[in-house]
Amino acid sequence: MDNCSQTLATPPTTTPRGKISIFDTTRRQNMSAIRRLNLISQHISPFSASSSSTTSSSTHSKMPVSTQAAHPLTLIPGPVEFTDEVLQAMATPSQSHVSPQFVSVFGDALALLRQLFMNTDKSAQAFAIAGAGTLGWDFVASNLIEPGEDALVLHTGYFADSFADCIDTYGGVPTQLKAPIGDIVPLDQIEAALKSKFYKVITITHVDTSTGVLSDIKTIAALVRKVSPNTLIIVDGVCSVGVEEIRFDEWDLDFVLTAPQKAIGVPAGLSIFIASGRALDVFKSRKAKPGSYYASLSKWLPVMQNYEAKKASYFSTPPVQNIHALLASLKQILAIPLEDRFAAHEKMSTHVKETIESYGLKQVAVRPGYQAHGMTAVYVPEGVTLPDFLPKVAKRNIVLAGGLHKDIATKYFRIGHMGVSAIGEDREDFTLALNAIKDSLKECGYTF
Ligand SMILES: Cc1ncc(COP(=O)(O)O)c(C=O)c1O
Repeated sequence: MDNCSQTLATPPTTTPRGKISIFDTTRRQNMSAIRRLNLISQHISPFSASSSSTTSSSTHSKMPVSTQAAHPLTLIPGPVEFTDEVLQAMATPSQSHVSPQFVSVFGDALALLRQLFMNTDKSAQAFAIAGAGTLGWDFVASNLIEPGEDALVLHTGYFADSFADCIDTYGGVPTQLKAPIGDIVPLDQIEAALKSKFYKVITITHVDTSTGVLSDIKTIAALVRKVSPNTLIIVDGVCSVGVEEIRFDEWDLDFVLTAPQKAIGVPAGLSIFIASGRALDVFKSRKAKPGSYYASLSKWLPVMQNYEAKKASYFSTPPVQNIHALLASLKQILAIPLEDRFAAHEKMSTHVKETIESYGLKQVAVRPGYQAHGMTAVYVPEGVTLPDFLPKVAKRNIVLAGGLHKDIATKYFRIGHMGVSAIGEDREDFTLALNAIKDSLKECGYTF
C-alpha cells in the first residue's frame, strides 16, 4: 500500500445499486472519510500522476470506493477488482490447516458454496482445492470419462478447444459441435449428436470468455435428460458462477466448475466445483483408476466431506488464506438474494452494451438473449487497431483485455463487468471506463 491510502475503517461491502446496504451509519461516515482521503490521494499517488496529463476531467472525477492502494482499475473478464474485506482475508496470519479455527472457516465456505450453486441435495458435494479453473477440466477428464469414452463438447469459443484438449489428454474422445463465431450451438444439432451415439458427458461453456456468448444451460440440460438421460452434464462456469443464474439441483446438472477470480471476486488460486450424486456414483463405478493423482475425486471427496462436517482432514495442504478470502467473499455475495445479484449484473451489462453500441461499436456475441452479463466482447471500429487503442485506455488507468479467439484476436477487445466494480455501491468504475473508451477512440481518430 502507498502511504496515502491506508485502511481507515471497515471498508465497503458489495451491494447492488438501490439495494439495502448492510452498513450502519458509523460505517457510512467512515466511508465518506475514506472517499475524502482517496480524493486527496489522487494528487500524490501513482494513479493520478500518470492520469492527470492524459485524461479528460470527467474520467477521473472520483476515485473508486476503496481503501486499497491507488491502482489502475482492472476491468477485464477476470481477475476482477476485489473488495477490501477479501484482500484483508488474504492477509490472514498463518494458521494450521487442521486447527479448529480453520476447519470451521473451510466448513462454512463449503456450505456457502452450496448456496451459490443453489444446491441443497446432500448427495452432491462442493469442492475448493488449490489450483485454477483449468484444474476443474482435469477433474472431469480424469474422473468422469474413461479412456476411449466419448465426450460431446459444445464450442462457443476458445475455451471449448482447451477443454476438448484436456479430455483428449486423459484418453477420452472429444467431439466438438462448433457454433459460428459469436453464436450458440443450435439445439437441433445437439439433439442429433446425442441421438447418434452415447456420450458419457456433454460439456457446455456457460459463458465463453473469448466471445462473451452465453449458453442456455437450462434448456440444453433439459434436452440432454430427454434424449440421453445418462449423459453427465458438465458446465464450465468459470466466467458465469456468481453472475449468471445457475440452479444446480433444479436444472439437474452434474458438474459445475469455476474459479474464484471472476464473479466470485477472490484472487486466483482455487479450483472450485460441485459434483452431483449421479456424477459421484459414475466415478465410483469406473473400471479404470482415476487418470490423475492430484486431481482424484477419491482423494478429495472424503476431505471435502470431512471439512464440511467440521472435521480436520488431509490429502494435500489447503491454501488457508485463499479459503479465508473465499468465505469473506461468499458472505458478501450471499448477504443479498442471488436473484438480486444477477439482476444488478444484468442492469450494468445492459448499460455497458448500450453505451458501447451508442459509440457505433459492435459486439462479438451476435444474438440478443445469448450475451454474457459479466463481460462484453467488442470489435474495434474500422481504422482503429488494438495496439493503438488499448494503451490509450491504459494511459487512463483502465485495464481492458485484448482478443482471445484465435480467428479474430486482433479485431476485438473485452470488458469485464463482474463483482464489486459492476455492482458495488457508490462505485463509478464504469463511468470511468466508458469515458476512457470514448476518449481513447477519439484519440485514435475515430469519429462518433
Ligand atoms: C470459460 C473459462 N474456462 C476456463 C478457464 C480457465 O481458468 P483458469 O485460468 O483459472 O485456469 C477460463 C479462464 O479465464 C475461462 O474463462
